Amino acid sequence: MTAMRHPEFPNLIIYDHPLLAHKITLLRSVDTPKKVFKELVDEIAMLMTYEVTADLPYEVCQVETPLEVAEGVRVAGDQMTLIPILRAGLGMVEGVMRMLPTMRVGHIGLEREHESLEPSDYYYKIPPNPEGRTFIVTDPMLATGGSASAAIGFLKRSGAQSIRLMCIVAAPEGVARLAKDHPEVAVYAAVLDRELNENGYILPGLGDAGDRLFGTL
Ligand code: PRP
Ligand code: URA
Repeated sequence: MTAMRHPEFPNLIIYDHPLLAHKITLLRSVDTPKKVFKELVDEIAMLMTYEVTADLPYEVCQVETPLEVAEGVRVAGDQMTLIPILRAGLGMVEGVMRMLPTMRVGHIGLEREHESLEPSDYYYKIPPNPEGRTFIVTDPMLATGGSASAAIGFLKRSGAQSIRLMCIVAAPEGVARLAKDHPEVAVYAAVLDRELNENGYILPGLGDAGDRLFGTL
């Protein structure tokens, strides 16, 4: 078991694995260049997918080996839908899709206003028939929780019933906000940091994930 329910936050599933901890340490470093930062986000997302999909539905099927027919399983990957929150959530898409290449991908564009820290939306496109799908929302940073809460709210209003959130660094404030706004949504985080600063940045954190991914610092 590499992930477990957090004792203080029942909605939070937190990882405990030396490989992830090592990669997060590199991700935090101010000396990590853009190329490596992107590769690390990608690798962390791939590793996290293992636990996020642990209850993935599957059907039993038969497979012909060179020797005989064996029983196998086939996961319903196309019922899974990945929703990166633009921009930084995009950095996690490739890693997740390497594990589940048949997933559908929707996009939600949100940007946090610098003064109010409130998210404003600029793009929304998801696959049809959201009722029967399982959504994995990705965003490397869960800070105040405003962006993730808004994204999940949009999905619910579209009819989505099964949603989970996958982030790399979470702040206690963001986890608590999601527990209040969307208590049924499981939050998977690679690490739970200490707190937010007065500008809404996570401490110790890793800075602005979108800027570091896309070189807009
Ligand atoms: C960042 C981050 C999250 C959000 C987290 O995005 O990628 O989406 O802030 O903060 P919150 O939990 O307080 O809402 P930002 O708005 O900077 O946009 P970007 O991804 O385009 O850089
Ligand atoms: N968004 C980021 O990219 N980083 C933070 O620390 C907080 C919000």
